[in-house]
Amino acid sequence: MSDLLRALAGETVDRTPVWFMRQAGRSLPEYRELRVGTRMLDACLTPDLAAEITLQPVRRHGVDAAVFFSDIVIPLRLAGVEVEIVPGRGPVFANPARTADDVERLIAIDPATLDGDAIAAAVRIVTAELGDTPLIGFAGAPFTLAAYLVEGGPSKEHLRARAMMHADPVSWHRLAGWLAAVSRRFLETQRDAGASVVQLFDSWAGSLSTADYRSYVAPHSREVIDGIGVPAIHFGVGTGPFLTDMRLDGAASAVGVDWRMPLDEAIGILGPDVAVQGNIDPALLQAPWPVLEAHVRDVIARGRGAKGHILNLGHGVPPETDPDQLTRIVALAHGEL
Ligand code: CP3
Repeated sequence: MSDLLRALAGETVDRTPVWFMRQAGRSLPEYRELRVGTRMLDACLTPDLAAEITLQPVRRHGVDAAVFFSDIVIPLRLAGVEVEIVPGRGPVFANPARTADDVERLIAIDPATLDGDAIAAAVRIVTAELGDTPLIGFAGAPFTLAAYLVEGGPSKEHLRARAMMHADPVSWHRLAGWLAAVSRRFLETQRDAGASVVQLFDSWAGSLSTADYRSYVAPHSREVIDGIGVPAIHFGVGTGPFLTDMRLDGAASAVGVDWRMPLDEAIGILGPDVAVQGNIDPALLQAPWPVLEAHVRDVIARGRGAKGHILNLGHGVPPETDPDQLTRIVALAHGEL
């Protein structure tokens, strides 16, 4: 079994397994070269291209896992929702889902009808080349998807999605339940084609109060991963105030921790029966190597008390990162430095 799967199962590993959120992307010159002339979502739905981009960081850095090159809005595109990713901005929807009628129109689309063939084809190419290295499949959590879909695009405080919870709770729960089914289907497609771990991204959950997270969000996120049959990592940014809720009543095998809270403190809160992932501060990637090295050693040391520790950043790789910094972190985690 690979070190990543062992760490997720709480078994002892000789070397700390490591991968990076957004490892497949703009920090790599070989990625930028391949992407010339192809729009983001079209690249995701071209199996050869998506597979090649997924494999690039594994070859370059020797990370312990690949993460599937795709996007959290891809299953919405597959459901026929009009969405584009605008460079430098993020997902933009032609028809935001703001009213009860908007929500009803949207949820009339049956998630079972999503055509996952391009996804499955890409995953099969990747897993054939990876051998024992696991492929991590992923999906967006209902709240993070709603943060874009209700607003119509990126926003700072996700006010429209959070407002819907209280102004029209019935529509909110119908929308979040549908988004959960769509993301579940996306995960199952990746799992069935060979992904051996999944990660649920609730990147913007940190804008919620603990009470709203519990009542309006956690039950829907749980639906996405509960009983999925492979280990599930649940990640969010700014979720310190409700970190234990991120375990989703045991549905998550590991909880992702951002850079704000020292890992040992997070482990103390989460308890001894769940693995953790994190939490190198992405800002430190800009620091001279000796500074970054000391930080990474500290993160590894603080992770020792966990049931299992997967080394990662506290959020995604910033585009301006020198890729050699990432390669050095992998070597350090593997005891080669
Ligand atoms: O390497 C990986 O982690 C795998 C691929 C991946 C992408 N998006 C590729 C991508 C993953 C896991 C995601 C998830 C995703 N997408 C999230 C959750 C993770 C997170 O970062 O919090 C979110 C919020 C999105 C939505 C999204 N897609 C945003 C905000 C952006 C950035 C827009 C920009 O240009 O600044 C994207 C685009 C995107 N997704 C890129 C990549 C490689 C950049 C596209 C490009 O090359 O121009």
